[in-house]
Amino acid sequence: MADVRFDGRVAIVTGAGGGLGRAHALLLASRGAKVVVNDLGGAFDGTGAGSAMADKVVEEIRSAGGEAVPNYDGVDTWAGGQGIVKTAMDAFGKVDILINNAGILRDKSFMKMEEEDIDKVFAVHLKGAFNVTKAAFPVMRENSYGRIVMTTSASGLYGNFGQTNYAAAKMGLVGFMNTLKLEGARYNILVNTIAPIAGTRMTAGVMPPDLVEKLKPDYVSPIVAYACSEECTDSGIVFVAGAGYFSRAVMVEGPGISLKATEGVTIEDIRDRLADIKKLEGAQPFNQSNEEIARLVAALG
Ligand code: NAI
Repeated sequence: MADVRFDGRVAIVTGAGGGLGRAHALLLASRGAKVVVNDLGGAFDGTGAGSAMADKVVEEIRSAGGEAVPNYDGVDTWAGGQGIVKTAMDAFGKVDILINNAGILRDKSFMKMEEEDIDKVFAVHLKGAFNVTKAAFPVMRENSYGRIVMTTSASGLYGNFGQTNYAAAKMGLVGFMNTLKLEGARYNILVNTIAPIAGTRMTAGVMPPDLVEKLKPDYVSPIVAYACSEECTDSGIVFVAGAGYFSRAVMVEGPGISLKATEGVTIEDIRDRLADIKKLEGAQPFNQSNEEIARLVAALG
């Protein structure tokens, strides 16, 4: 089979001045995509700004023979989202691929977390993905083609001490994908999510140095690039990737029990049947909430 290529495709990668975003941008460009390398150029906690990070990656792409332009807008503002897409339109005339990757950390136990730590993390991760996607989606719709990738985290999927703000924002992105996949389907706009593990400046504070060195961001990028390709037909998948491990994470619902609600259900009924209510054998995912509601309503008989 032929190699997966991105010739003629235009990609935006947010937060591509380092870490995972840089690796995604380099891989896409090496396969023919024209890339907007967005990065605010600040510190890992969202403070500061500068053009050097994005410029450096653009330089790397160009010196390898690829095409790229920098953009220094913050994804965390509406104007930033518009500006990033405008850069793509001005330079390349369209947007086919959007990887919402930009991110920051403001880790603190919930007791110590300040309002600004919550607002800033929500603004960059969750609202940031909305800002850029809102600007890119109409262009994709117009062209009946789009590949969007959100970046979630095991912290959101499973929890991680000291990251209530980050975990909530990251899980919010999964909810965003779950619905955007439905709204994009008829326009050939596919939306998937990556839950990466990689040694980057973001994880340098929480991983031992040798592990940071071993878990190269490049190991994550092939599955992200695949999700951005014409060959990808999936939408609504959470892919897990890192260190050569690739998998899928999914929200499922157990088979549950059906009690006669019309005859009255007591607290004791719940207590006595709790093990059956929590049982996951036979659990299944749903493609959208209507499917789950239909199953629930069927219990009324
Ligand atoms: P990183 O810190 O190297 O990359 C994040 C990039 O986003 C930085 O270059 C930063 O300058 C940029 N950025 C920050 N705020 C921005 C803004 N407002 N607008 C534009 N760019 C901005 O960290 P890493 O690890 O590469 O993270 C990439 C994504 O992957 C993040 O969304 C992160 O939450 C996620 N992630 C990373 C994991 C890992 O193991 N490294 C695990 C799970 C999720």
